[in-house]
Amino acid sequence: MTRFFVGVTGGSGHAYTDRLVRALVQCGHDVDISVTSAGAKVMRHELGVDPGDSGELLARDPALWLGPEIAQRVRAFRSDAVEAPPSSGTSLTGGVILCPCSMGTLARVSVGFSSNLVERAADVALKEGKRLLIVPRETPLSIVHLENMLRLARLGAIVLPAMPGFYHSPRSMDDLVNHVVGKILDRLGVENQVGARWKGLPRPDEDGGLGQEAEERIRE
Ligand SMILES: Cc1cc2nc3c(=O)[nH]c(=O)nc-3n(C[C@H](O)[C@H](O)[C@H](O)COP(=O)(O)O)c2cc1C
Repeated sequence: MTRFFVGVTGGSGHAYTDRLVRALVQCGHDVDISVTSAGAKVMRHELGVDPGDSGELLARDPALWLGPEIAQRVRAFRSDAVEAPPSSGTSLTGGVILCPCSMGTLARVSVGFSSNLVERAADVALKEGKRLLIVPRETPLSIVHLENMLRLARLGAIVLPAMPGFYHSPRSMDDLVNHVVGKILDRLGVENQVGARWKGLPRPDEDGGLGQEAEERIRE
């Protein structure tokens, strides 16, 4: 069992966060969470969950988002709780994941400017040589964004954009979300069956790899 820290920011893509936290717990791990103020706004909009402006409602009761079973393995902290355990290099963590990571948080982490618990936890991961995995969500990317990502990659962070592939013939939004989350778990070294694994191109007599529905549409 390992404890991971998931920092949730104001980037779009909280469906990834939701799936990631549940998958980490289902794979037998503990999870610390903190949601930035902008992250709280996006969470309300995308998940229909109100964590409180600084994540104070979630800190009181993680079950309000995750339900009682998953919440048992989750500690949530207000984003202004810079005194919380993830703020210290002494905290035991298997890794810090910023998912989704806004361009604002990405910029601040890339220059060591820690204005809240999420940024501080990432800063601690860098200084302690622990795993830092960043899931940026923005398009198009400016040179500023690209340079910030390059700086983080050079510092040892894993930059894993929320960029699902389509070669596994996804049939639903869940399939796309699982594809990205499976890759995050793989990079964390968490054994998982979340994303579909590529088995090679189908033979000509098999379904063309598009899925039956798409094949039928093309034939019509
Ligand atoms: C609905 C919504 C979606 C957003 N999506 C993104 C996004 O995908 N990427 C991004 O960098 N910023 C996005 N933003 C803007 C950030 O939330 C904003 O820059 C914020 O200051 C980031 O703060 P944080 O890094 O402290 O979470 C979005 C904002 C809203 C309200």
